[in-house]
Amino acid sequence: MMPAIANFKLLSKSLAVLLFSLSLITSSAAGIIPPRIESQSRENGNPSKPSPRRFGFVLPRAFDAVDIFGPIEILQALSRQTHLELALLGRTLEPVTTEPANAAMNKFNSSFWPRIVPTHTFADSPALDVLFVPGGAAARSPDLGPEIAYVRDVFPSLRYLITICTGAGIAAQAGVLDGHRATTNKAAWDEITAMGPNVKWVSPARWVEDGKVWSSSGVASGIDLTFEFVKQKYENGTAIAQMIAGRIEHVIVSDWRDDPFADQFNVPPSN
Ligand SMILES: *[C@@H]1O[C@H](CO)[C@@H](O)[C@H](O)[C@H]1NC(C)=O
Ligand SMILES: *[C@@H]1O[C@H](CO)[C@@H](O)[C@H](O)[C@H]1NC(C)=O
Repeated sequence: MMPAIANFKLLSKSLAVLLFSLSLITSSAAGIIPPRIESQSRENGNPSKPSPRRFGFVLPRAFDAVDIFGPIEILQALSRQTHLELALLGRTLEPVTTEPANAAMNKFNSSFWPRIVPTHTFADSPALDVLFVPGGAAARSPDLGPEIAYVRDVFPSLRYLITICTGAGIAAQAGVLDGHRATTNKAAWDEITAMGPNVKWVSPARWVEDGKVWSSSGVASGIDLTFEFVKQKYENGTAIAQMIAGRIEHVIVSDWRDDPFADQFNVPPSN
């Protein structure tokens, strides 16, 4: 009897493996549905704290596209592993362009400006756990009143505020970085840090975590910040971050102090 049972077990095991492999092939052929790793309902190391679910992105005119879509790329992949909600916030529901408002910033009259359609206005913002503030030419705009007012008003209700690149300049003008450690793009250091004289600006830093306030250096560093956020705030976040990084073929920088751009742009060490 034993051999028969063993064979039957072996057979059903092989079938299970075959079916599992088939399901993997089907999902990867279908594109990008990754295998579920597990449920991630609680912050890592903080079993009483639910993971953040409700994300918002401010859309200022002349935003940098990767400041928004770098983090969204990762969070969208995460949203296939756990429930997440996305709000894209603009002054109105009209599409927001990357084109600078000032024609002098488009001296070749290019038409290279994608647009994003907001899902909500600042006035109708849903409750959020996390707000991302992107940068780009936007941060130098003299006409940021509604964006600054929104960031200032919503800040107390957030669990996390995350600035990407020169988005730190927008948040600094809203006063919400005051007293916090934060960083920004090293190629725009003097200009942006001047917007927040009461901020503890940190260099070198690919990103900085200061409790509720997280901030990244230039554009692409926002991708590493977001991977770190996933690692820390979701159960099995490290495994999930590695799975997502593999699928987008990104080599994660996991040391926040790894910042060759501070030297490149002659930003002296601080904080
Ligand atoms: C800029 O380009 C647009 C077409 O994209 C054209 O209609 C317009 O006349 C151009 N402006 C100048 C100043 O060349
Ligand atoms: C994390 O994932 C591993 C497998 O990748 C699994 O063994 C473990 O139970 C998971 N942990 C949680 C808390 O879900």
